Amino acid sequence: MAGIFAPRLLEGRAVLITGGSSGINRRIAERFAAHGAKIAVVGRDGDRAAAAAAALIAAGGEAVGISADVRDMASLETACTEATDRFGPLDIVVAGAAGNFVAPALGMSSNGFRTVVDIDLVGTFNTLRAAHAHLRKPGSAVLAISAVQAQMPTAAQAHVCAAKAGVEMLMRTLAVEWASDGIRSLAIAPGPVDGTEGMRRLAPGGQDHLARMLAGIPSGRQAGLDEIADLALFLVSGAADYINGTVIHIDGGFSNLGSRDFGALLTDAHRSAAAVEPQLA
Ligand code: HXC
Repeated sequence: MAGIFAPRLLEGRAVLITGGSSGINRRIAERFAAHGAKIAVVGRDGDRAAAAAAALIAAGGEAVGISADVRDMASLETACTEATDRFGPLDIVVAGAAGNFVAPALGMSSNGFRTVVDIDLVGTFNTLRAAHAHLRKPGSAVLAISAVQAQMPTAAQAHVCAAKAGVEMLMRTLAVEWASDGIRSLAIAPGPVDGTEGMRRLAPGGQDHLARMLAGIPSGRQAGLDEIADLALFLVSGAADYINGTVIHIDGGFSNLGSRDFGALLTDAHRSAAAVEPQLA
């Protein structure tokens, strides 16, 4: 794919990406690998992580798949050690593992709420906390994947809104604490992204739901995976060396408008699902 970046921008860099088996994180892995980075793909499902790594290798890259659940600190510490043993000190970590389901606050149990907070927020902390000892200092960057829900209180997304708001504040705090180690801490906050598991969950009603969602986005469309990967590439590159503690929205202007229509859409989606599935008490 033609791009605006110099070729092999990340030549020889060691990268660890959680949630790297699919979606946004997988495309970031592909983009970084195409620019010469060595990629540790970390995923809950070891077979899927191995398959994603195999695809990167088949495309001419260097990669390894590692099984770890971001809710399990010990498995992340092992993953970081394995990645560093294989590729050397980590230059870049992408904390991308996330979970989501559509439900109003009264439709989720305490465990349902906690599960998403554990994956998104605690999982981001665990990933970066475990990685810190393995990061190149100075000269590394850690990047979290947030979402517009961090800024937009959205019906049927209480867990994600709370978790992603926490992720953004975590990254801003790490920027303050870790800048002196020569580590930059960053986040990107996408809105809807075409071809992702998130969109399959948020717009399950097919074209009607999608059209309603897109009507609420000033740019009138979803992001493409490549657009997210290009922003990630820019942020971890030397061109962004003085950007630290910053959350960049990549949402076609979505977060400027508020989430009333988006929340109504998700509430409708939840009601439709409720018509065919038993609900929580
Ligand atoms: C209410 C639900 C629910 C639902 C699960 N739960 N689905 N509650 N409505 N639809 C509850 C369960 O009942 C349980 O609570 C608790 O959540 C944990 O569920 P488990 O299935 O045991 O958890 P687990 O297997 O760990 O799965 C985690 C998950 C799952 C988040 C629930 O969906 C998942 O693994 N998702 C990963 C992939 C993903 O979601 N990708 C999309 C990310 S999109 P009880 O009380 O019964 O024990 C994204 C942002 C997109 O992050 C932004 C776009 C704008």
